[in-house]
Amino acid sequence: KFEKIWLTFGVACLVVFVSIVGVSAFTQDHTPAGGLETIDPEKVDQTAPFDHPGVTQIDDNTYQATIVAMTFGYEAPDLKVPVGKEVIFKVTSKDVVHSFTIDNTNINMMVVPGQITTKSYTFEKPGKYLILCNEYCGSGHHFMSTEIEVT
Ligand code: CUA
Repeated sequence: KFEKIWLTFGVACLVVFVSIVGVSAFTQDHTPAGGLETIDPEKVDQTAPFDHPGVTQIDDNTYQATIVAMTFGYEAPDLKVPVGKEVIFKVTSKDVVHSFTIDNTNINMMVVPGQITTKSYTFEKPGKYLILCNEYCGSGHHFMSTEIEVT
């Protein structure tokens, strides 16, 4: 008789455990902390705003720079932004984990396929800033770079 009680108890524990794991997996997949935006990495080219990468003006003081990272480069045509205006960088990856790092700034974003990484920055000095990948992503990692012009 005791065996039956223990068996029931064991099964109950297992059910509770499985549902906790299930619930946390579900929560992480759908509403991760910090309101992370997700994207299908296979459909980056068809998903706004990544179907038109580059710089767009949002209002008088705000610009958005949309960038796609891939091995081994950045799809980011004509990266030019004005000095002293807020630039919202939105970056995603088509393949593996890269980074989006701008030299001489505090921008060092991890770029993960399936996720959209967002960071806002205001350039205080005009010039050309080197953009590079800080995350080892394969044989061409060292060649992965571009630049942004601040005028
Ligand atoms: Cu991309 Cu290293």
